[in-house]
Amino acid sequence: MTDFKQLSRYGILDAKVPRYTSYPPANHFNAQVGNAEQSDWLRAVPEGASVSLYVHIPFCKRLCWFCACRTQGTSTLRPVESYVETLLREIDLVRARLPQDVKLSRLHLGGGTPTILSSALMALLLDKIFANFEKGASFEFSVEIDPTEASPALLDTLIIYGMNRASIGVQDFDPRVQAAIGRMQSFQQTSDVVHHLRSGDLDSLNMDLLYGLPLQTPQSLSQTLQEVMSLQPDRLALYGYAHVPWMSKRQVLIDEAALPDPKMRYDLSEIARVLLTSDGFEQIGFDHFARPGDGLATAKATGHLRRNFQGYTDDTAEVLIGLGASSISKFPQGYSQNESATAKYVAAVEGQTLAGARGYVLSDADRWVALAIEQLMCGFQVDIAQLQADFPAYGPAISTAFAQLASAYPLGVALTGDRLSVNPGFEPLVRIFAGQLDVFQAPQTSHSSAI
Ligand SMILES: C[S@@+](CC[C@H](N)C(=O)[O-])C[C@H]1O[C@@H](n2cnc3c(N)ncnc32)[C@H](O)[C@@H]1O
Ligand code: SF4
Repeated sequence: MTDFKQLSRYGILDAKVPRYTSYPPANHFNAQVGNAEQSDWLRAVPEGASVSLYVHIPFCKRLCWFCACRTQGTSTLRPVESYVETLLREIDLVRARLPQDVKLSRLHLGGGTPTILSSALMALLLDKIFANFEKGASFEFSVEIDPTEASPALLDTLIIYGMNRASIGVQDFDPRVQAAIGRMQSFQQTSDVVHHLRSGDLDSLNMDLLYGLPLQTPQSLSQTLQEVMSLQPDRLALYGYAHVPWMSKRQVLIDEAALPDPKMRYDLSEIARVLLTSDGFEQIGFDHFARPGDGLATAKATGHLRRNFQGYTDDTAEVLIGLGASSISKFPQGYSQNESATAKYVAAVEGQTLAGARGYVLSDADRWVALAIEQLMCGFQVDIAQLQADFPAYGPAISTAFAQLASAYPLGVALTGDRLSVNPGFEPLVRIFAGQLDVFQAPQTSHSSAI
């Protein structure tokens, strides 16, 4: 039996599984956790703690058909300007609840398209953030950049304010694939932005790529990867295209007949993995690659790799504060998500209240599962003895859960002594193995496919 046959027996072609950027996944958050809990959890952050900030900019000038991100189209800067005004107020509301001497570990601007901001608006936002949050010793500042919507002046502003990590959306360079996903972006446009960014003090340049797009073939993906590698990124995120038109309505514009079938999706992901690793990239978790020496590769080597709402990260701050519509904050006590609709988010903040609308209070029964899933997703193994030492009340439950996982997937994982490891070749199934520990995971179609 080939490896692929075994992978498909274990569900790689048909399982629908969360990406586990949090546990429990955000679709299990509830409205009992609102801005009162968000406020209490902000006030409970200890003096001297490291916190990270995620700022969501939910606007784009173009709406790419494939995109499943929380964003909205705008042809003018007017709504963006008033949204930034609201963000400034939200920063005041959040800062007033935090102790005086918190240190900023990471600042990440994501979207949507953060680079839609004018230089002046970006400067206004960054001045406000840096006036309120003192940078910690290993501070990093990262931004998601759409190369078709990033003026040289805006890039210069980001460089002046110390952006040291940039993430560029590429997806695919083949013009036929680009036309099929409603996102035209030339190699030259992308290359110009890369060269501009390299003129600053950039420590790490990431590019986002997708496999499983309509009309993608092994040849077209290999060609895209050759072009991407010629731009010498330090990191690559290689996501499987999530076709979820019931959640992301604009995806109805995608011709489903042109989508690769599950076996081709698997082949495309393997082709990319082999090409990238033979070019010297290290695989990080199940969907990232990094050059040795890049922060993510170092975090993997030293056991500091973590998972958060942006995917894999080397940030070890215990508190992540999400600002803006739909942003999620993570606290030791649980998760808090802001109002998703921009109008409701603005109304909350303009009414001088925090915008937390839903969330989740973590119990110890959730915490050990969350930690085990994070370890599986980051290092493909779990130190069961350590987990039981950290959660003594759950010792027997932990033993039972891992024994059940090993007996459900005897070829996929190995249970040796006090350690569970994913067997070589079965890494693409890690989300399915994680799902076995997930007590919320019931048969459902709302998630994307396992490959
Ligand atoms: C929020 S987008 C920001 C990128 C930026 N606006 C741009 O267009 O370059 C971040 C990334 O999410 C990924 N993404 C968006 N929709 C996706 C989908 N349906 N399936 C998988 N990944 C997706 C893409 O790789 C994209 O670059
Ligand atoms: S891929 Fe980027 S530019 Fe396109 S719709 Fe999504 S967030 Fe907007």
